[in-house]
Amino acid sequence: MNAYNLYNQKVKTLDEILDLFQSNDFIMSALAGSEPIKILSELHKIADRGVKNCDLSNCLPMADYEYFKNPEYQDVIFTNGWFYSPPLRKAHQNGNISYIPQNLHFAYTKRKYAAGDRRKVLLCSCSPMDKHGYLTLSLGCTYEREVIEDGAIVIAEVNQQLPRTFGDTTVHISEITAILEVDYPLATLPEALINDKDRKIGEYIAEHIDNGSTIQLGIGGIPNAVANALKSKKHLGIHTEMLTDGMVDLIECGVVDNSRKTLYKGKTVATFALGNKKLYDFLDDNIAVGLRNGSWTNDPHVIGQNYKMVSINTTLEVDLFGQCASESIGHIQFSGTGGQTDTAVGAQNCPEGKSFIALYSTANVKDEKGDKKTISKIQPLLKPGAMVSLSRNDVDYVVTEYGVAWLRGQSIRERVKRLVNIAHPDFRDELKHAAKQLRIW
Ligand code: COA
Repeated sequence: MNAYNLYNQKVKTLDEILDLFQSNDFIMSALAGSEPIKILSELHKIADRGVKNCDLSNCLPMADYEYFKNPEYQDVIFTNGWFYSPPLRKAHQNGNISYIPQNLHFAYTKRKYAAGDRRKVLLCSCSPMDKHGYLTLSLGCTYEREVIEDGAIVIAEVNQQLPRTFGDTTVHISEITAILEVDYPLATLPEALINDKDRKIGEYIAEHIDNGSTIQLGIGGIPNAVANALKSKKHLGIHTEMLTDGMVDLIECGVVDNSRKTLYKGKTVATFALGNKKLYDFLDDNIAVGLRNGSWTNDPHVIGQNYKMVSINTTLEVDLFGQCASESIGHIQFSGTGGQTDTAVGAQNCPEGKSFIALYSTANVKDEKGDKKTISKIQPLLKPGAMVSLSRNDVDYVVTEYGVAWLRGQSIRERVKRLVNIAHPDFRDELKHAAKQLRIW
């Protein structure tokens, strides 16, 4: 059948789409900027159709939904997130949400075991169809393409404003079950302003990066600032999980040309993109960018094959052993492991690879009375219950605005010295004293 006829048959109203859900469905929602926001905003209404006991997995949702916060919908749609964003963080206490611990490159491979024999449904967003009947998953295919290949019912918002992308994002109209046509602006991240501490951290890291290296930059304010510090480099390549605004600047100013890469030479590789409109415009019809399945992009074995692979991520707290609690504050889930372990271990699988954990030396937090206080982010021990995202066995360079501590292969005694040296001066004596008490100094 002609692709346009097939497409037209699949276009539905929102009500018709809600009629497609069944009790016990195992629903996967596309990640971050690829979320189908119109459908998700109305999804709780499946309760009016008698549907219940659905399981919805998501990652880094950009909007807030009724089924996150209203306990009335707990038995209708229970949400399992594997990367918390502000709406999930806020809603966690309502009891409608739980966290899935996992490394990004296993995002679907492992999650599908949880589905068992439940019917799988993918809720995603696509760029408009071309004359050959192809749409694209647009801003990413971290797990979405794999869910389609696993035989899921595919319900897609086709958004006029989504860029058409290349890599593993291609979807043929015959693979889609139902379409909701929409036209609304894409989710963006607020611009991260660069301060003096970011600048310092960026400079320290840049000193350790050779021309020609392949880079990965993680989520958070600091990695974007590091991108800025790399503007004096030459022939960098990108093999990353998340494509960011800062990376587009590096491509446009010629610092990134991907010319030394071993995998997909000449191409920027990522699994999803999240940032500002400039990033999304850059991606549109840009064959020099390949968005690939997360199970491949983030596989530490694949990452390690890149030329001079460098991974740069951030953390919330580091202890004197080098353990990084990057996703929780104590036992409270803040974000997710995402690809932190994947990319750090991957970089160290590379013969000349390096991995960096960059953080400010202090954080401003509220004490029990609600008063603001400054604490050291380098602590003798992690807060009780803190989740270790990057283990002490896999940590490599830790960087603050006070310098660089290289921990790979170092004893605990040596790690303590190096980490104390990059802690804020106001906390160094306290840390030394605690290290003595713990008999690790
Ligand atoms: N104790 C208590 N609170 C702390 C803290 C600590 N040691 N360190 C930071 N915080 C608080 C901050 O004060 C801030 O609070 P606020 O939101 O009220 O201002 C909050 O935690 C976030 O800190 P910030 O440093 O601004 O975080 P960020 O947005 O730069 O993100 C991570 C940093 C670590 C959360 C983020 O990088 C992450 O989730 N990493 C794990 C996943 C990953 O690295 N994936 C890699 C590939 S994308």
